[in-house]
Amino acid sequence: MVVLRQEFIKRFKHEPVLFRSPGRVNLIGEHTDYNKGFVLPASINLEMFFAIAPNASEKCRIFSYDLNESDEFSIKELKESEKRWNNYIIGVVAQFIKGHYKIGGFDCVFGGQIPIGAGLSSSAALECGIAYALNDLFRLNIDKLTLVKMAQKAEHEFAKVNCGIMDQFSSILGRENNAIMLDCQNLDNKYIPLNYTDDYALIIINSGVSHFHAISEYNKRIKECQTGVNFINKKEKRKFNSLRELDLDLIQRYKNTLDPIIYKRCQYVIEENERVLEASKALENGDIKKFGALMYQSHEGLKNLFDVSCKELDFLVDQTKTNSNVLGARMTGGGFGGCTINIVKKEFSDDFIKEISAEYKRKFSIKLKYYLTQIVNGTNKIF
Ligand code: GLA
Repeated sequence: MVVLRQEFIKRFKHEPVLFRSPGRVNLIGEHTDYNKGFVLPASINLEMFFAIAPNASEKCRIFSYDLNESDEFSIKELKESEKRWNNYIIGVVAQFIKGHYKIGGFDCVFGGQIPIGAGLSSSAALECGIAYALNDLFRLNIDKLTLVKMAQKAEHEFAKVNCGIMDQFSSILGRENNAIMLDCQNLDNKYIPLNYTDDYALIIINSGVSHFHAISEYNKRIKECQTGVNFINKKEKRKFNSLRELDLDLIQRYKNTLDPIIYKRCQYVIEENERVLEASKALENGDIKKFGALMYQSHEGLKNLFDVSCKELDFLVDQTKTNSNVLGARMTGGGFGGCTINIVKKEFSDDFIKEISAEYKRKFSIKLKYYLTQIVNGTNKIF
């Protein structure tokens, strides 16, 4: 953070205000958010930091510290940038302009520890940090949920990913040592304390496979799910809005007529929603074994029915199955690469990391990165 502030002063010759915005891990409930289902994310201590201040002009001058790249744009003329990272920022600014909020130009230096393309929502952290900072700096009094929605829209319109609301919700509304049980249909939510942390560690393992190529597959999954709903609506003469409103009994009736791929997608989402409900109950009851078992089932569904895993993620999850010190493991995030999460008996964490790193190196010649995760508060200003 200190280096970002120094860099800001060196470049822009005035004093910045400092903000932070966390990435997220999703404990269970994958690809359910855009199907109006349930998710269980938590914001993590891999974060993005911002040194930012208005500059009394219409210009925005941005420096990405980690990439050592700068870019500029005018708030009067917002268009996509060739610098991919800046589209997340421009996308957020566009939401303020669209909403007729009064903002001016600003200078910003940002950077952080969230690996890019690893399924830990570096993009949401960037969007949410900028949205939160602009709201604060221009004294707009926008409530947090509206900021969440603005950040999500930025992703749709400028990053071209039709994502659900989970990542942005978690980044802004995360709470220390709690997961958020979020109903993406009506945004009802409740914090569930993670009481297991005395005995178990939540370890994130980065496969090193980037999911950047996966945007088109992600958007394809959204369409496939909608196709399933449309099919059932036509057959049933009903108006279901999303897979959230369907159940297994209903889709099973169409097992022979529904396209097999679409059937698998629908089955996965319906089952995963059930799992999130069970998993949050298990967490509340302190039943971490049950929670772990549900994580494995979730991974199986993502692998076999939703087809968003990859051989590296499957290997990492499979390795844990014979290790009695691991209660559960699954891929987390959009998939096609990125990370797995693992619930591991604390005292065996080091052994676990050593063993799995060696196996992974042997198999894929990739050096594993891992993160001993803490659950932290959502986006805020650093005083
Ligand atoms: C990405 C999206 C989220 C969610 C997950 C999959 O992270 O941004 O909205 O759909 O994938 O659960």
